[in-house]
Amino acid sequence: MDLKGIKLTWLGHATFRIETPEGSMFYVDPWVGGNPMCPENEKNVKKADVLVCTHGHGDHIADAVEIGTKHNATAVGIFELCTWLQKKGVKQIAPMNKGGTQTVAGVKITMVHAVHSCGIQDGDEIVYGGEACGYVLEFSNGVKMYHAGDTNVFSDMAIIRDLYAPKIAMLPIGDHFTMSPREAAYACKLLQPEIVIPMHFGTFPMLTGRPSELQQLAPQVKVFEMKPGQTMASL
Ligand code: NI
Ligand code: MN
Repeated sequence: MDLKGIKLTWLGHATFRIETPEGSMFYVDPWVGGNPMCPENEKNVKKADVLVCTHGHGDHIADAVEIGTKHNATAVGIFELCTWLQKKGVKQIAPMNKGGTQTVAGVKITMVHAVHSCGIQDGDEIVYGGEACGYVLEFSNGVKMYHAGDTNVFSDMAIIRDLYAPKIAMLPIGDHFTMSPREAAYACKLLQPEIVIPMHFGTFPMLTGRPSELQQLAPQVKVFEMKPGQTMASL
C-alpha cells in the first residue's frame, strides 16, 4: 500500500515516528532514550512537532516532557495526561477525550477507546492519568491509521471499523501487559484492516508474542513486520 508521501518509522515497542506529507514530524508514544529496541541514532530527536500519547505509562511517555519542551512540540492526549505534561513543562498541549476529533498540524486525530490502565509514575507515586486510549490518524492524503495503544481486544473495535475504516492498524501483540496474538487475531476480525503492524513485543523477555503467530492466526490480513529504525513509504 502506497502511503502517498507519509514516511513511517517504527522505533520499537509502541513508538512510531510519522512524517506527514506536509513535512510535520509526529511521534506516537515518544519513548526513545530507555527503549531497548530504539536504534541509537534515533535516541537524539532532531525534530518533533506533535507528540501523540496513548496513556501515561513510562514505556509510552517517558520522553514526552523532554522532547515536548526541547522542540516545543504539541502534546496530544487525554485531558488528565495533558494537564500533567503541562505541569511538567510542556507548553503546547492539545487535550481531548474519547470520541473527539481535532486537527493538529494537518492531521485529523480521533481518540478512541482502549482497555488498559493509565496511572502515571511521578517520582515514587502513581498519579491519576485519565484513561488509556487509542487513536485514528487521518492524514491530508486520505490515509488512515489506527494506533491501538496498549489494549486488550474489545468489541467496540467494530465501531472503529464502521466509523473510520482504517486500512492500517498498529496492534500490540506482546502478551502479559496487552493482547497476545490470540486476542490480536480477534481484533483483526473486528477491525478488518488490510495491513497490521505488530508492536509492543520483544522489547522485554516477557513480551513473547510474535508477528508470525499473528499471521498464522489471521491469514486474511497482511502482517507487516517493521524493523526498528526502518522508514517505509509504502507497506
Ligand atoms: Ni501500558
Ligand atoms: Mn506499554
